[in-house]
Amino acid sequence: MYAKKIAALATASMLVLAGCSSTSTSEEGNQGSTMSSSTPKASGAGGEVGVFTWWADGSEAKGLQALEKMFAEKYPHDRFKNLAVAGGSGSNAKAKLASDLKNGNPPGSFQGHAGAELTDYIDNEQIEPVDGIIKELGGESVFPKTLVDRLTVDGHIYSVPVDIHRANVVWANSALLKKAGVTKTPTDVKGWIADMEKVKASGVATPLSIGGTWTQTELFESILAADMGADGYNKLFTPDGAWDSPEVKAAIEDYKKALTFTNTASDGDDWPAATDMMASGKAVYNVMGDWAVAEFDMKGKKYNVDYTAFAVPGKEVVYDFLADSFTLPTGTKNPEVTKDWLRFVGSTDAQLTFNKIKGSIPARTDVKPDGFSTYQQAAMKDFKEVPIVSSIAHGAAVSLAWSSEINTAMSKFYQDKNADNLASALVAAHDKYGK
Ligand code: GAL
Repeated sequence: MYAKKIAALATASMLVLAGCSSTSTSEEGNQGSTMSSSTPKASGAGGEVGVFTWWADGSEAKGLQALEKMFAEKYPHDRFKNLAVAGGSGSNAKAKLASDLKNGNPPGSFQGHAGAELTDYIDNEQIEPVDGIIKELGGESVFPKTLVDRLTVDGHIYSVPVDIHRANVVWANSALLKKAGVTKTPTDVKGWIADMEKVKASGVATPLSIGGTWTQTELFESILAADMGADGYNKLFTPDGAWDSPEVKAAIEDYKKALTFTNTASDGDDWPAATDMMASGKAVYNVMGDWAVAEFDMKGKKYNVDYTAFAVPGKEVVYDFLADSFTLPTGTKNPEVTKDWLRFVGSTDAQLTFNKIKGSIPARTDVKPDGFSTYQQAAMKDFKEVPIVSSIAHGAAVSLAWSSEINTAMSKFYQDKNADNLASALVAAHDKYGK
């Protein structure tokens, strides 16, 4: 099955994200240049493209607004229509999208995660290959092979990636860490939990903030990958994946322990409130994808001053990967204008502008790191150097149906904290969707 294609990057050196000062990197010289006139030519058809995302509010919307503005400048004959539906990780949007697609009312293009999530749409013949556009944009000479592999199903590519996000980032409040006397980055989950004890003893009632179900799934997958390492974690998504192993059970126990340090959350709580708890000093830690950077920027919080960041620590440092990409829906009204949108989001111009705002790194390797934040430059370096694992919560590792079953199990676990039940539910989900 598709899950077999999940691969890990070279396991060269381990760069801990925390405090890494990456002003310039030796790879920059190999990255070619960002040309000012890099937007591909429009088809000339002209017309409207309705773009469906979940980047509807707050910091989420800012990157999309920048894309909209630039698209109007570069493709004056085309019109962008914003069809965003609010709710982090597409928690509301995906249901609306599924019904629109089922009812034969596809948007011009929709946001989907590179990887297993796309297989649902492909199997249902709801999206079409975009091989020609990827080729026009430079193919494997500009998109990393690890990403192209995740986008390719039966020899075809079904979406154009606009960014690469990292999900397994611990954001930490610098002042509260200092107050608690935590001066070192922990080297494994147990060490991190010991630091949570310390910060609790220093008077912080909520060491770790969480949001609703998908944020809990993201925290769990980050602990799972940290405890098991890239190879162990990646194997879980192959047909032989041993979800009943002692390693998975140990990770569940670590996760259970981490939950004893959190606020109380409801299933539907969105991510910005949890991230803001860390930024405003109500919590010390929050685990969230690096779209959180856009939220911190909006609140005027500075990396390495107000907050710091490190990958959830464990066996080795891993990059829990996901990429937002845009699709060509089958039967869309104006496919030529959709193709213009895809050419645009895949261009260096769009990726430079969008990713600087979004907190992500460009999917293209020929966008220079110059002008990106210190955090993002460190993420670019890590993406090249540390092993890659695929996110569960954000559709890179598992299909929509599989992730929804995992989310149901996580939500139950949040209520009953029964590790055996969670382990059995994870095994059952793999039996059903991962074999
Ligand atoms: C992810 C998406 C990110 C960000 C996040 C929070 O699924 O890939 O771009 O939007 O959800 O909503």
